[in-house]
Formats: sequence, C-alpha cells, structure tokens
Amino acid sequence: MPNANLKRISRASKKPSTKTPPIGVFDSGIGGLTVASAMRDLLPGENIFYIGDTARVPYGGKSQDTIERYSVEITGLLLAEDAKMIVVACNTASALAIPRLEEILRVPVVGVIEPGARAAVTATRNGHIGVIGTRATIYSRAYERAIHALDPDVRVTSQACPMLVPLIEEGWLDDAITDQIVRRYLEKLVRDGIDTLVLGCTHYPLLADAIAKFAGPEIRLVDSAKNCALAVQKLLAKEKLAAPKNHLGKLEIALTDKPDGFLRVAENALGLQAGDIQLRSVQGVAVS
Ligand code: DGL
Repeated sequence: MPNANLKRISRASKKPSTKTPPIGVFDSGIGGLTVASAMRDLLPGENIFYIGDTARVPYGGKSQDTIERYSVEITGLLLAEDAKMIVVACNTASALAIPRLEEILRVPVVGVIEPGARAAVTATRNGHIGVIGTRATIYSRAYERAIHALDPDVRVTSQACPMLVPLIEEGWLDDAITDQIVRRYLEKLVRDGIDTLVLGCTHYPLLADAIAKFAGPEIRLVDSAKNCALAVQKLLAKEKLAAPKNHLGKLEIALTDKPDGFLRVAENALGLQAGDIQLRSVQGVAVS
C-alpha cells in the first residue's frame, strides 16, 4: 500500500538557491554508480547527488509495494538536496516504482528501462532480444512492454539471474565460478538465437566482460547505464534544466548504511573516485 502520508513531494528549498542544483540519482545500492559514472562522462558540467539504499539492498526480490515505498523515501532524500530531476538508476525500481514517482513528483523522472529498450530495438538485426535482470524486474515484464511499445514484432526472451548481483558484490568479476553461472543463465537465450542482450540490472555492466565472453561477438550487449545517461542529456535540454555552460560538475555520494567492500569493487571497475561517502537515514524523511 502506498503510504498515505507521502502525497506529494516537492523540492526542499522554496527559496531561490545560488547553488547549481544537482541531478538526484538513486539505486538500491552501489550498482547505480554505473549510471552515475556514465552521466559523469557524458555530462561533466552537471552536479550529481547519488544515494544508494545500502541499508535495504537488494530490492530485486521484494514486492511492488515495498519497492515503491523505498523509492518514494529515497526520492524524498534527494529532493531534500534540491534535486532538479530524479534518475532511477535501478532497473528494479524503474520497473516497479516509476508510475508512482511520476504521480507524486513535480520534477522530471528518468528510469533505465525505456532507454535500454529503445537501444535494444535499435541494435537488433534479427528481431530477437534477450533481457536479463533481477526476479522483480523480469517478473514485472516492464522490458517486454517497453520493447513492444516500440516494436510489437520483436521477440523478447527474458531470464531472471538472481545470483549475479551477489557475485558482483563479492567482486568476482573475473572468476571461473562466475563464468559457470553466467553460462547457466545465458545458455537458453543464446541457444534460442537472441542477437541482442539487455543488461537489465545496474550491477551487470560490471560483468560485461564475463557475459560477452560467453555470449560471443555476435550478440550485442545493451548497457542501461550509457543509454540512461543519453536520456538524461535529452531531458535536460528539453526541460531547459542543464547546468550553466562552463560549470564544473561534481559527484556526491550518500548511502543509507556504511559502505562495504563493494564500493571499492565498483570504484576500481568504473575508474571512479567516490570521495567522502555521506550517510543518510531513511527514518523521518521530510515530505510536504
Ligand atoms: N540495482 C538493482 C537493479 O538494477 C539490482 C540490485 C537489487 O536487487 O537491488 O535491478
């Protein structure tokens, strides 16, 4: 049940601010840094405030009500930072919570599903796309809907891969066990003849090498991070929300629980300097 107290969330600062407002980005944890990193590369002038809900990760096996509630609460924390736009850098939250966020937010919202679906439809040559993600993302069929809205004739074969997130968080990116599990999950998709594979979880770009090794050069990998960054760039222009020219953007990262080893894994894999990590509590999120 959506929380009745969380009717409409607005940006925290009602007074005009002299600071350049950030783009608010959130994920269930650290994996969404793949999106933040792609945004840093494409939009170096933008401030980004990232929140990873590490106190409650993973979202991938939770119910729609819980995922919606968590997403609304984390969004409240981003609006308290004066976020001018919300980027849902989590496939699970994008699949299940975007309609609820769009209903209550006054700032634009971008998720990872639509941009990924669009890129996959553009990439496929034989009209057969594979999608991998968490159980919640795959069972929601959000990618299928988004792909079929763009091209109803494309065939979509989906596979939930719940064991990949723990392997990535363990840092086993280049490991024989990971290779075996990737094979087990992808075997059927490859046998069925997909020519494009959507990495429908923000963690998976960190496993792109292992996935590409099994899938082979004929299968194109669609990475939600890069495509989401492109969608953000377009929306900033459309809504006239881009940071002033010559502004040098920065990335601030907050978590809802203290960082663990996965932050270092992500930093190394992404070549990202996380800097000082701030902590935010989801208790008593201010909403208006
Ligand atoms: N960030 C989530 C996603 O992109 C994966 C981790 C989780 O299950 O929360 O779906």
